[in-house]
Amino acid sequence: MDIQHVDYTTLIPNNVNLAEDRQVLRALENWHPGYIDWWMDMGPEGFQQALVYLRTAVSVDPKGWAKFDYVKMPDYRWGILLAPKEENRTIAFGRHRGEPAWQDVPGEYRAMLRRLVVIQGDTEPASVEQQRHLGHTAPSLYDLRNVFQVNVEEGRHLWAMVYLLQKYFGRDGREEAAELLQRRSGDADKPRMLGAFNEATPDWLSFHMFTFFTDRDGKMQLESLAQSGFDPLSRTCRFMLTEEAHHMFVGETGVGRTIQRTCEAMKAAGIEDPNDIDKIRGLGVIDLPTMQRKLNLHYSLSLDLFGSEVSTNAANTFTAGLKGRFQETKIQDDHRLENATYPVLKLVGGEIKRVDEPALTAINMRLRDDYTADCQRGLDRWNKIVERIGVAFRFELPHVGFHRRIGEFKNVKVTPTGQIVDEVGWKRDRDKWLPTSDDGDFIVSLMKPVTEPGKFASWIAPPRVGIDNKPGDFEYVKIAA
Ligand SMILES: [Fe+2]
Ligand SMILES: [Fe+2]
Repeated sequence: MDIQHVDYTTLIPNNVNLAEDRQVLRALENWHPGYIDWWMDMGPEGFQQALVYLRTAVSVDPKGWAKFDYVKMPDYRWGILLAPKEENRTIAFGRHRGEPAWQDVPGEYRAMLRRLVVIQGDTEPASVEQQRHLGHTAPSLYDLRNVFQVNVEEGRHLWAMVYLLQKYFGRDGREEAAELLQRRSGDADKPRMLGAFNEATPDWLSFHMFTFFTDRDGKMQLESLAQSGFDPLSRTCRFMLTEEAHHMFVGETGVGRTIQRTCEAMKAAGIEDPNDIDKIRGLGVIDLPTMQRKLNLHYSLSLDLFGSEVSTNAANTFTAGLKGRFQETKIQDDHRLENATYPVLKLVGGEIKRVDEPALTAINMRLRDDYTADCQRGLDRWNKIVERIGVAFRFELPHVGFHRRIGEFKNVKVTPTGQIVDEVGWKRDRDKWLPTSDDGDFIVSLMKPVTEPGKFASWIAPPRVGIDNKPGDFEYVKIAA
């Protein structure tokens, strides 16, 4: 079979030859109605009948994998797409390094592998749930289309993980697939599995920060799963990464356009001081210190997603060959790490110190460091916007110990610059570091929908180019009458 070709003749578009895999096809067809129910209940609220200019994956050819067209979201063709199989692929790391990649689940690692798939799978519908109210306050049709694009693709990522569960994990895989539709973001009884995916996304700045910081964690997790010795997982994640790039584009440019608009408005009004908050807010734009506080919040929540800095669990999944490091095959070392060390920031006698830990148990830390470097590059691009317009302000990532609920720093209060403070000190300055309810109220007050093609809300600049090279006044969403 031509792996690039996507079969649209079955209910579920796919390049995994589902038509001849009757048992899995039937399991997925049984799961489909529950998925649609979930989408109607928990997907974008109020826009299920709108025609949205969406891209749909029609191939896994990197040069032309998507087509754009108007589609009602419930009719979106969610499909199962795996990157092409690499002939003779071998396991790149861990105890099984050099052995042929597994085409089936190795029995000894079944539980570990299932857990990795379920945790990844759980994040996908969670973000759709978190973002479901945003359509009502979109700053433009362009932005409205972007959130919906992200949503349908997160839906497809859920399909991707559910396919793996249904095909490779038998009965317990089917049970896990059902439970993925039952948990709900922020629900007291049945929450999603990870903290950041139970937080609210109350406004568009939060959405853009989320897609920048939290989808970027997603990218790092997918990158490390793309290294997996379990070949179907690797191929699935490799294709998901092509879609994920757009989510980070939405986040980075969304925040970038907000920064641009604020700086331009300040310049036009002759305001030099970024801390002249009342005057700046009076212009209908979001002041930069508030954006820094939002950044502090979303970065710290996303760092928690990497788990504990020192983790035997992470060591085990690496040694087993299930989850590698970021760009594993490009790293110059023995890829087994039995004798290597890696520097980890730890709390030692009440001080933050760099300590060499066995590299195997520091796998999470290493991925998190790669993530931080990736975030920093995005911040550098934001700072270029500020610089270019000529405002005296710089965005900075807070210290990794700041505002943490998981890992080394969960029981101490650390400032954005890395000083440990007591409860009193924390309470005194907290509002300088994290968004306040006043910040939230102000941002929400700006969230008025703009639905005229080519028009944008006061607080965000238009994009430089349209999606699919469409002109500025393109009607990205035809909101149903
Ligand atoms: Fe995703
Ligand atoms: Fe994403």
